[in-house]
Amino acid sequence: MNRLKNKVALITGGARGLGASIASHFFNEGANVILCDVNINDATKMAKEVNGSAYYMDVSDSSNVLEIFKKVHSEHKQLDILVNNAGINGFEDREDLLTDRIKVNNLQSKEFNETGKIKSHFDVTVNMSDEEWHKMISIHLNGTFFCTREALKIMNNQIQASIINMGSVLGTTGGPSSPHYSAAKSAILGFTRATARELASRNIRVNAIAPGYIDTDMTSSLGDVKKMVKSVTPMKKFGTADDIAWAAVYLASDESKFVTGQTISPNGGFVMNQ
Ligand SMILES: NC(=O)c1ccc[n+]([C@@H]2O[C@H](COP(=O)([O-])OP(=O)(O)OC[C@H]3O[C@@H](n4cnc5c(N)ncnc54)[C@H](O)[C@@H]3O)[C@@H](O)[C@H]2O)c1
Repeated sequence: MNRLKNKVALITGGARGLGASIASHFFNEGANVILCDVNINDATKMAKEVNGSAYYMDVSDSSNVLEIFKKVHSEHKQLDILVNNAGINGFEDREDLLTDRIKVNNLQSKEFNETGKIKSHFDVTVNMSDEEWHKMISIHLNGTFFCTREALKIMNNQIQASIINMGSVLGTTGGPSSPHYSAAKSAILGFTRATARELASRNIRVNAIAPGYIDTDMTSSLGDVKKMVKSVTPMKKFGTADDIAWAAVYLASDESKFVTGQTISPNGGFVMNQ
C-alpha cells in the first residue's frame, strides 16, 4: 500500500491485459493512473475502475503521442512513471503462422527421426510483407521511443522518475514465427540500456520487464503452441498478469532506487539468462 503515493503514472496499452493489471496495482499503491490506448472504450472502462483517466493514443503515431503528452502535462503537471507496454503479437490477421508453427515442428521431428534429414521449413521471413514488418516495429519500437521522448520533456524537470519498457523472452530466445516481434523486443532492451545510461544523471531510471508467456487476450489464440510452451517451461504453466504487475510496481517504486538498465523476467524458468 502507498508505495506509489502522489506519483502520476502513464501506461500505454492500458485497456486490458498486462497494462490493465499494472494500472490496478499502481492504483492500489496510491498512484494517479493515466491509460493510453487505441481501444478507447475499454481504456475508459478501466480508467473508471482505477479512478484515473483515459486517452486515445496510437503509440506508433508521433503527432498523436505529442498531442496527448501535452494534454497530460497541462492537466497533471507532473509525470513520475511511464510504462511503455502497448503491443501486438503479429498473429492478429495471421493465424496460419500459428497452425504452421505446430505443423512444421511436428513434421521436422518426424522427418529427422525417420530419415535424419529435414524437408519442411517455417519460411516466415521469406514471406513477410513490408506492412507486417513496419507495423510491428512501429508499434513496439517507434512507440517506445515516441512516448519516452515526450515523457522526458516533463520528467527532465523533476527530481526523479522511472520508465519501464515491456520486452519479452522472445527478444532473447527468438521465435520461429516472430522475426519482427523478436527484433522489436530485442531492440527495446538495447534502447532501455542506452537511455538508462543517458538519463542516470537526471535520476531517471529506465528498466525493462521481459515476460515469459502470460495468460492474456494476446496469448489466448495460441492454441496448441500453448502446450508446447508449457512443456518446455520448468514451472509447466503460463504466468498471470499479476506476475508482471508486481515487477512493474517494484521498478516504479523507490524500492528499486538503485536499479537501472536492468531486465526483470518473470517467466517460470523458460529463460534463465536475461
Ligand atoms: N501476454 C504475454 O504472454 C506477453 C509476453 C511477453 C511480452 N508481452 C508484451 O506485453 C505487452 C502487453 O501484452 P498483453 O498480453 O497485455 O497484450 P493485449 O493484447 O492483451 O493488450 C495490448 C494492449 O495494447 C493496445 N495497443 C495495441 N496497439 C496499440 C497502439 N498502436 N497504440 C496504443 N495501444 C495499442 C491494445 O489495444 C491492448 O489494449 C505487449 O507489449 C506484449 O508484447 C506479452
